[in-house]
Amino acid sequence: MERDTSVLLDEKRIFTPDTETLERANVKDWEAEIEKGKDFKKYWAEKAEQFHWFKKWDTVLDDSNKPFYKWFEGGKINLAYNAVDRWIKTEKRNQVAILYVNERGHERKMTYYELYRRVNQFANGLKNMGVKKGDKVSMYLPMCPELIVSMLACTKIGAVHSVVYSGLSVGAFVERMNDARAKILITADGTFRRGKIIDLKKISDEAMLQCPTIETVIVVKHTGIPIEMSDLSGKEIFYERFMDEEPAECEPEPMDSEDPLFILYTSGSTGKPKGVLHTTAGYMVGVATTTNDIFDIHNDDLWWCTGDVGWITGHSYAIYGPLLLGTTTLIYEGAPDYPDPGAWWRIIEKYGVTKFYTAPTAIRHLMRFGSSYTRDYDLSSLKVLGTVGEPINPEAWMWFYKNVGKEKAPIMDTWWQTETGMHLIAPLPAAPLKPGSVTRPFPGIDADVVDEDGNPVPVGKGGYLVIKNPWPAMFRTLYEDEQRYLDVYWNQIPGVYKAGDMARKDENGYFWIQGRSDDVLKIAGHRIGTAEVESAFVSHPAVAEAAVIGKSDPIKGQVIKAFLILKENYVLKTKLIGDLKQHVRYELGPVAVLGEIVQVESLPKTRSGKIMRRVLKAKEAGEDIGDTSTLEE
Ligand code: PRX
Repeated sequence: MERDTSVLLDEKRIFTPDTETLERANVKDWEAEIEKGKDFKKYWAEKAEQFHWFKKWDTVLDDSNKPFYKWFEGGKINLAYNAVDRWIKTEKRNQVAILYVNERGHERKMTYYELYRRVNQFANGLKNMGVKKGDKVSMYLPMCPELIVSMLACTKIGAVHSVVYSGLSVGAFVERMNDARAKILITADGTFRRGKIIDLKKISDEAMLQCPTIETVIVVKHTGIPIEMSDLSGKEIFYERFMDEEPAECEPEPMDSEDPLFILYTSGSTGKPKGVLHTTAGYMVGVATTTNDIFDIHNDDLWWCTGDVGWITGHSYAIYGPLLLGTTTLIYEGAPDYPDPGAWWRIIEKYGVTKFYTAPTAIRHLMRFGSSYTRDYDLSSLKVLGTVGEPINPEAWMWFYKNVGKEKAPIMDTWWQTETGMHLIAPLPAAPLKPGSVTRPFPGIDADVVDEDGNPVPVGKGGYLVIKNPWPAMFRTLYEDEQRYLDVYWNQIPGVYKAGDMARKDENGYFWIQGRSDDVLKIAGHRIGTAEVESAFVSHPAVAEAAVIGKSDPIKGQVIKAFLILKENYVLKTKLIGDLKQHVRYELGPVAVLGEIVQVESLPKTRSGKIMRRVLKAKEAGEDIGDTSTLEE
């Protein structure tokens, strides 16, 4: 808990929706919808009716083996069929499904029909290559239509996709690929970022030297920079060549509701990333419902979620949610302030974006440039705004509300996680809003704030955020690590899901998220484990031991503060600091933003040798270091 959230305690402002928002809202009565959600099995079953099932489910929820819940048991369904094929038979057939825009101002549009053909061709290519239901396929791609095509192609044939964020570097990439034992990798020549082109192929070439399970690498020519293809015959193939000759029809694989859909890696308290496993039907129902109700989706919408597809936000709300509703989804490749800080506002004006979902860190960053850029563009098309990824401070909330939403577009502050798959605590446009609060649990969700033993804490007091009933898009396990799934999330406070966040509830039952309760950092909304950063440090020859904590940062929320014990004869001077920064960046990628590195003689440890980061954090925050009875010295 690094951020100073005390300011939130005094936040008393309430913003109610205007008549236009209320009249348009898919769900007009928030309270009544929450009431309806109390019979949660019935609620989710009703939501599931809107999809095309090859065979309808027998049981909505099988909870006979908690916490290994099963949703829509007995059902047969294909998610890609519901996200793409279904629309081909309707008036949406020639509507734009994907609107790709990049920081250089280039755009590409792909209709639902075009997407359908491309997905089928790619799916047939995969099949020809011997990819079968259950096989793992990895992607290391920028935000581009080919990423969506390849994910949906996997979904269509029942292969399990595992996307690695293109901002992660060699070390993190290799670890994730090898854990998933992926058979195929899809990558690109590069990605556009702040006027430069990042050579993704080079990173993936280096990674491939350490990824023995990969049989084929499919390369998208995206930026057009010259790249070297390997001469290992058949191992590498260009994307276009891979699929161009393939037929544009492909039968969807009828999947069991509980068949795996994707694995997405995220950080936990230990150095080893967690392979969060999501399954088919429940994920589909949860993600489509929340997109529709929270962002109030209508036929004339242009939806823009700025989250990268390498993270859960992109999976659920840049791709699956909007496509399952037949909406146009805008995907953007590049930096928010390139070529100038008006870049995003210009896109909203040019295309008439109606729903805009982003992260507090981006808002805080763009806020720095004042209100002239938001004034320069016509943002009146915006009807609903949203934020995700970390607590939003009321100041940033107000700036977003006034300057971007023009005090008309309500802000949906959505709390959820890679593990939850879908929003769990969030308002609807019809809800009264309080800046900095994620408001109340979504209909059908039962959340609470409790102490270590699971007893509810009094109103206004901080405690552990828990979810008390299952929800359809919940992850089903950690890939090949059932014990960790049980230990981290379910066995700590019996009978409930422990989210890993601290929160408090106010007198109206509104939730205020205070930050992580574990050793996970949130840097610019990106999740990274302190242990991962520590192991990157100690793999450098100069470092004997490392301890890492989060340090508050006004824009990024947190950055890394590292305490290092150096090996003999090493001194922390400018050159070594530069080397260490480069080394950590090489291992983990630019997501690991280093704020400060200090050299120390010793680190606070328990008698069993575990580093007590709590002590370092308290000292950093100028707080009392608390109980030190377990401290070694
Ligand atoms: O600490 C919470 C924070 O992000 C964590 C989940 O991170 P990740 O799995 O990477 O998913 C991010 C996108 C869903 C949570 O445990 N978090 C997420 N949304 C919010 C938030 N903190 C405060 N307010 C939010 N709206």
